Amino acid sequence: MLEIGGMRVDDLAKTYQTPLYVYDENQLRTRLKDYATLFQSDDFETGVLYASKAFSCCAMVKLVQEYGICLDVVSGGEIYTAYKAGFDMTKAYFHGNNKSLDELQMAIDTKVGTIIVDNLMEAQALNEIAKKSDHLIHVLLRVNPGIDAHTHKYIVTAHVDSKFGVSMMQEKEIVDLIQTFEDNPNLSFDGLHAHIGSQIFDKNAFVAEIEKMFGFVKKLESDYGIHLNTIDLGGGFAATYTSEDHPIPLDEVCKTILDTCKKENTKQGLSIQKILIEPGRSIVAEAGSTIYTVGFTKQTPNKNYVFVDGGMADNIRPALYQAKYNADIANKMEQAKDCIYTVAGKACESGDVLIEDIALPKCEPGDLLVTYTTGAYGYSMASHYNKLLTPGVVFVANGKAREVIHRESYEHLIGLENND
Ligand code: LLP
Repeated sequence: MLEIGGMRVDDLAKTYQTPLYVYDENQLRTRLKDYATLFQSDDFETGVLYASKAFSCCAMVKLVQEYGICLDVVSGGEIYTAYKAGFDMTKAYFHGNNKSLDELQMAIDTKVGTIIVDNLMEAQALNEIAKKSDHLIHVLLRVNPGIDAHTHKYIVTAHVDSKFGVSMMQEKEIVDLIQTFEDNPNLSFDGLHAHIGSQIFDKNAFVAEIEKMFGFVKKLESDYGIHLNTIDLGGGFAATYTSEDHPIPLDEVCKTILDTCKKENTKQGLSIQKILIEPGRSIVAEAGSTIYTVGFTKQTPNKNYVFVDGGMADNIRPALYQAKYNADIANKMEQAKDCIYTVAGKACESGDVLIEDIALPKCEPGDLLVTYTTGAYGYSMASHYNKLLTPGVVFVANGKAREVIHRESYEHLIGLENND
């Protein structure tokens, strides 16, 4: 029987029902601690912002806080979660390309420390709203450096029309935007932000990003007399889903980033003081697994299906991105994997396939199938398609489990409906 965090998977399934998201809490803690200790430098003030879109809930926010890590939030909902969890909101960074005026006001009211502005209209709106603020709000501007690293390779001068940030090619707009904040005593314009993609394996993509960012800061300084002190490089550090994935080790990625920043600061004659990164996936993905119960199996002319009691509603990533996952039958860990299966979910959608062609022991109803590395963008992208219930989430550590999000019930499902 497979164990996670010292707990037997069948015990977890019995107590909390399936599907169930399970996080190994010690693994989460190790990752948070590693980021906090490895992303340190004698040359810069550094900050690690956990991108809460990867997995946000009060328990996770509390863990993040324990390790002195900051938080990247992208909506009123993520602000609310952090605020309710008792997070020190001065360490929150508010992102988004279309923040509503209500969300901006909420950020100010909850004393969010930094707002990362995406565009000129947002800058103008924030400038107005912030006049009534009773505290200083730090501001960064999201720029688009024209580097696309969504795949195993990065591409320079790609994606100039991305919906995020202002392209570095639109220099005048960037200067106008920065000047918007000049006379506002409640706003402090600190620097630039960029995010070049997710699940990035190539450290040269980050090197290219840093070179572009420092080069641009230099241009702003020499051509327009604009002085900045902060560069936020975004997230995107990869996780291991299958044996085909080889992410850059964390110590190497941190060292490469900090060394390159130091080199560029000297080369460009700049005095950037603060470097930030925003990892999401690489903190939570590998610590998470999903437990499913096997239902029926079915043979078609060319496929051998095993059906599980969840699927695309709790993990949209295979359907949306053709993401690959690994799995085991938790109650048959020592049996030979001599059958090739397609693992499919229960939703009314042909694309609801979690894994194509995986070797597993012969599957029978009641078996417990566990998919690994589901900790990022699983729960956070869950849907109610077919009115499926969103699974619960448990943190396990040292043989003990705690339910951090309850499993939905049918009452929850129609709880907001007008059933007159
Ligand atoms: N910072 C910004 C501004 C971002 O847009 C993102 C992710 C991150 C940080 C965190 O990136 P990470 O370290 O997790 O790669 N739903 C997709 C991933 C979308 C990522 C969007 N932005 C997936 O499931 O693969």
